[in-house]
Amino acid sequence: MSIKNICCIGAGYVGGPTMSVIALKCPDIKVTVVDLNEKRIAAWNDEDVSNLPIYEPGLAEVVQEARGRNLFFSTEVDKAIDEAELIFISVNTPTKTYGVGKGMAADLKYIELCARQIARVATTDKIVVEKSTLPVRTAEALQNILHNTGKGVRFDILSNPEFLAEGTAVQDLLNADRVLIGGENTLGGQKATEALANIYSNWIPEERILRTSVWSSELSKLTANAFLAQRVSSINAMSELCEVTGADVQEVARAIGTDSRIGPKFLKASVGFGGSCFQKDILNLVYIAKSYGLNEVADYWEQVIIMNDHQKRRFAEKIVKTLFNTVSGKKITLLGWAFKKDTNDTRESAAIYVADYLLSEQAEIVIYDPKVSQEQILADLDYLNTRSEAENRALVTVVNNPMEACDNAHAIAIMTEWDEFVNYDWKQIYNQMQKPAFIFDGRAIFVPSEMENIGFEMYTIGLAYSKNI
Ligand code: NAD
Ligand code: UDX
Repeated sequence: MSIKNICCIGAGYVGGPTMSVIALKCPDIKVTVVDLNEKRIAAWNDEDVSNLPIYEPGLAEVVQEARGRNLFFSTEVDKAIDEAELIFISVNTPTKTYGVGKGMAADLKYIELCARQIARVATTDKIVVEKSTLPVRTAEALQNILHNTGKGVRFDILSNPEFLAEGTAVQDLLNADRVLIGGENTLGGQKATEALANIYSNWIPEERILRTSVWSSELSKLTANAFLAQRVSSINAMSELCEVTGADVQEVARAIGTDSRIGPKFLKASVGFGGSCFQKDILNLVYIAKSYGLNEVADYWEQVIIMNDHQKRRFAEKIVKTLFNTVSGKKITLLGWAFKKDTNDTRESAAIYVADYLLSEQAEIVIYDPKVSQEQILADLDYLNTRSEAENRALVTVVNNPMEACDNAHAIAIMTEWDEFVNYDWKQIYNQMQKPAFIFDGRAIFVPSEMENIGFEMYTIGLAYSKNI
């Protein structure tokens, strides 16, 4: 089957970049990305591509080339569904905040709404592709909804999880390690799988297109995120041990990373992992394991989250302890708010939790992030509900200038590893700060001795106590 029209439901961090790259690489396919959020779609259609709703290096150029040619962003969901032979579902699947599975299970209400809408609208056969990250066996539920329409339309359901990381989304999509397609082992399932594989084969080498069962594909996505997050929690656990024993976690990471069985990636100790995926997907995995009565499996993976919460908390505690056990009324500057560099996404960012802790200690927080707005930062803090919106606004200032952010500060905490941070005039910043001038480097972006030569008191995550404060 040859695909001429694709619809993607959900114009978020996955749907937007993924469809832009498909449109770029498949100029003969019309790709329409739809969303209920009118503001988001308007931003995707903004003539000035610097106003796209998502910041990703290289994305503006891709959108510029494909948009209006064969890439369209629209709020007309029904129309796009009806036109398409293949529909990606790329809506959000956040952790449930209510009812059974609250705080653990994935909330599938948006997915179900999409399935019902497809069932209602479709008049021709469709391939429906799960692009969102979903619990294993979700395709079964989709199948049930889609097969009961009574209109005689055939639906083939595929799982095609997305492995892009934010901040490198365009490169990850152009150069994917692999594309995973899970399909049913029936003639229809195989045909659908090959139709999707043909799209990717426009730029992905055949040997990188993996075909599995639907269940393996769904579970592989949760497994990949669990393994990646587990590496970060493992090295973060070691960072605390390094700090008390005199070892240096960066040296340890280099030493173990050269073992080809371990490999060097994802061994960077940090203030804790953030992002919309790791925590959500592990909680989901834990929930699934528990629901099958696999308590040891559930406990094993839950520990990755427990370690991450501990890492965020101990970083905040370290700041308070070092500032002579009180930060009340002290100006603390947070450089970075995004959960990693090169993205404007702040979901589950460690900065939110560190700021919240410091605010509870009555610190005055000043925040600078090159890509995150004041509106977003305040919304993130308000969402926690720790204190009133008025109290958050009384204690938090967001500025657009890093020098202004650091002026007169008692301490600076590096929350995100933005490249520009290392290039500031740190001598000048030192001169403008309260003394002793503390830096808490939660991303290990500085060479501590260089900063100490300027006069700073340095705390670097995972660095031996003798060099620490
Ligand atoms: P997102 O919140 O950025 O985008 C989802 C979009 O779907 C929103 O704009 C929302 O308005 C829209 N939407 C929800 N219900 C809709 C409906 N019924 N009709 C039309 N639009 C609807 O989420 P995201 O980060 O793009 O994640 C989407 C999925 O991809 C999730 O399952 C996530 O786990 C997975 N994923 C995310 C990443 C990542 O890096 N963000 C990576 C891989 C996989
Ligand atoms: C992750 C997966 O990498 C990606 O494959 C999946 O599709 C979505 O989830 P993402 O969350 O966008 O991607 O970014 P990632 O690079 O994985 O970083 C996640 C968090 O871990 C960030 O807060 C990052 O700073 C942190 N991290 C990552 C570390 O602290 N140390 C590391 O060594 C790597």
